[in-house]
Parts: sequence; structure tokens; C-alpha cells
Amino acid sequence: MIDDMLDPAKLPKHVAIIMDGNGRWAKKRALNRIRGHEEGAESVRAIVRASREIGIRWLTLYAFSEENWKRPKYEVEALMRLLKRFMVSERAEMLENGIRFQVIGRVRKLPGDVQQTLRDTVDKTSHNRGMVLTLALSYGGRQELADAVAEIAHGIESGALRSGEISEELISRHLYAADMPDPDLLIRTGGEYRVSNFLLWQIAYTEIYTTPTQWPDFRKEEYEKALEEYQKRERRFGAVGGE
Ligand code: IPE
Ligand code: IPE
Ligand code: MG
Repeated sequence: MIDDMLDPAKLPKHVAIIMDGNGRWAKKRALNRIRGHEEGAESVRAIVRASREIGIRWLTLYAFSEENWKRPKYEVEALMRLLKRFMVSERAEMLENGIRFQVIGRVRKLPGDVQQTLRDTVDKTSHNRGMVLTLALSYGGRQELADAVAEIAHGIESGALRSGEISEELISRHLYAADMPDPDLLIRTGGEYRVSNFLLWQIAYTEIYTTPTQWPDFRKEEYEKALEEYQKRERRFGAVGGE
């Protein structure tokens, strides 16, 4: 059942989410942080499903940042195992629901077996047109820009590009997912008011919604609340408003 408070004509085309608060969710229940991540994976499942039902075209989830490599080894390993398990268990549903899966980030830093599982899912879902699910893994916005600059510089060195051709559009085309539109709505769970190196270039005019709800508790109803709030906003993009 889709929330009848939502106006289908005013849905964000692209929703990006900083899924934060798994550790605190677990701590509050005297559980291991890993249990928080496991429960967080259930929220991922629920939000992917809800997005598809509601009619969101692009959903981007921040699952592991470049800075998250600094976490204890056992936590990083548990996250990688969980990721692999999730990819395998969700593949059938992605195929059934026409979801195209892709990854942004320095994927080469991930363990080989995880990369393989990701690649399999990307390949198997590449023809789907229903919704694009992007996972940000080993992702950092500054690293993405550094990688784009390096690619552009390489193009200039090789003579394929002239410096006069550098434009916003050219930079956008050198980001990890060249065809991805900028997010309309950025949601952060877990109550912090920061961007934590997520999609720095792409969020120039994105509406931001934060909630104290921890990610494992963020399910369909909370999501619909965020979308309702988004629909009340007036986006001006630097121009004069409507009234
Ligand atoms: C978000 O939850 C998941 C990842 C960053 C992988 P956290 O693990 O950051 O949870 P908190 O912020 O410590 O509660
Ligand atoms: C942001 O959460 C990264 C992800 C959700 C993957 P963090 O927990 O890593 O962010 P900080 O450390 O609170 O800024
Ligand atoms: Mg956190």
C-alpha cells in the first residue's frame, strides 16, 4: 500500500541515503555492533522494496566509506561478509523487480570474492530498466573528484581533450557513475548533521533530511515521512521563489 499523502507527480527522481546508526542501535540493546549491521541490512531490503513500490527511479545507498577502512579489522570483515551474503540473497528479487544494480567507489580495494559477487550482480541486472540501485562502497566524494581530475588530466596529456573543454558537464561525466542524475533528496539517519564525504559534487542543490532514527529502525513509514517532507519543500536553485 502506497502512502496516499504522497503526490506521485512530485516524487524525487533520485534519493540518496547515508545509512548511519547501526552501532548505536546495537549498543542501546547491549548487542554487538555486528548485530546492528545485520539489522541494518534488513532496512536496506525494506527501503529498496519501498522505493520500487513508490516509484523512485534512482536509489543510492552509502554502505561503506573510504574512511570506514579505519574501523577494527573484525568489523570490516563482518561488513564484507554481510555485503556478500546480501548480494547473493537479493539478486533474485532485483531481477524480478527490474532493478539495475551498480557500485560507486574504489571497488578495487574490496576483497576479491566480494568484487566478484558485485560484478555478477551488476552483469546479471544490467538490462533492467525499473530502478537503479547504486551502492557506495569504499566511496569518498573527495576521492571521486580526485579520480575524475586524474582521468581528465590523462585525457589532456594524451591529446584526447583540451583544457578549454573542461566544464561542469565534463566533470560530471568523469564521476564513477556518469549517467546518474544528481540526488533530489539526501536522507541521513542516526541524528548527525554532516555529509561525511558523500557525493560532494552531486549534492550542490539536493534537499537534505535528517532524522534521529537509527538506520536499523528506518523502514517504510519513516521513509514515507521523509518523502512527504521533501514534497513540502520549495526548490529554488538560486532563482526567485514562487510567492
Ligand atoms: C552505519 O552505522 C554503517 C556503516 C558506516 C558501515 P555505523 O556503524 O556508523 O553506526 P554508528 O554511527 O556507530 O551508530
Ligand atoms: C557515514 O557514516 C558512512 C556510511 C554510512 C557508510 P559514518 O558513521 O562513517 O560517519 P561519521 O564517522 O559519523 O562521520
Ligand atoms: Mg556512524
